[in-house]
Amino acid sequence: MPNDERTEAIGERYGALAESSCCLSCGGAARHADPRPGDICLDLGSGRGQDVLRLAAAVGRRGFCWGVDVSDGMLERARRNAAKLGVGNVGFLKSSLERIPLPDASVDLVVSNCTINHAADKDAVWAEIRRVLRPGGRFVVSDIYAVAEVPEEFRSDPRAVAECWAGAVPREVYLASVGAAGLAGLEVLEESAPYEKGRIHVASITLAGSKPGGCGCGGKGKE
Ligand SMILES: C[S@@+](CC[C@H](N)C(=O)[O-])C[C@H]1O[C@@H](n2cnc3c(N)ncnc32)[C@H](O)[C@@H]1O
Repeated sequence: MPNDERTEAIGERYGALAESSCCLSCGGAARHADPRPGDICLDLGSGRGQDVLRLAAAVGRRGFCWGVDVSDGMLERARRNAAKLGVGNVGFLKSSLERIPLPDASVDLVVSNCTINHAADKDAVWAEIRRVLRPGGRFVVSDIYAVAEVPEEFRSDPRAVAECWAGAVPREVYLASVGAAGLAGLEVLEESAPYEKGRIHVASITLAGSKPGGCGCGGKGKE
């Protein structure tokens, strides 16, 4: 499936959901993230911006939180929510997850909730997470994995991918992408029992880990 068809379907679905209040999360990534005052945070697939705003409050005025999303509707809603609350230490960027528009080693903490499953090239997304993290920087990611390989007819259907199920990959494939990026200290913080989503069975998982290097304190201190 060409990547622009996938992006178009994602933009269409999430543009329509931007003004709703339905829950789009599949785990507690931001709740487990433990941001520190002064941290630079990044939320991949920031949606309406709730997690960005929560993290921004925790990192304070010396910190900053970026949200990245590909949907214009979601970005507009997130910016409006931030303006309404007068939150200044946030920024929302339009981008796909495979090319994060931030410099190397510029982020202390990456979070993401129920988004990476949509990406066509998940290895590229994890490589980007490693690239933007500072040495010792941390990630906490909630997502879904497929209980069995997703049949090609669904995987190649842009609307099914945009519905947040057909892009899911099996657990071992998901974890292999994290490992291939050279991220370390991988921990499973939450994992659900399998449940039905779309035409397949998935499970939710929350993973944490870090980029090797830094102060050796798991990103808890600044270099
Ligand atoms: C299921 S929603 C989750 C939103 C938010 N993280 C939450 O928990 O409420 C997925 C979000 O990721 C965005 N998204 C999906 N695929 C993406 C991609 N390849 N690049 C950037 N954003 C993407 C969608 O536009 C949507 O806002």
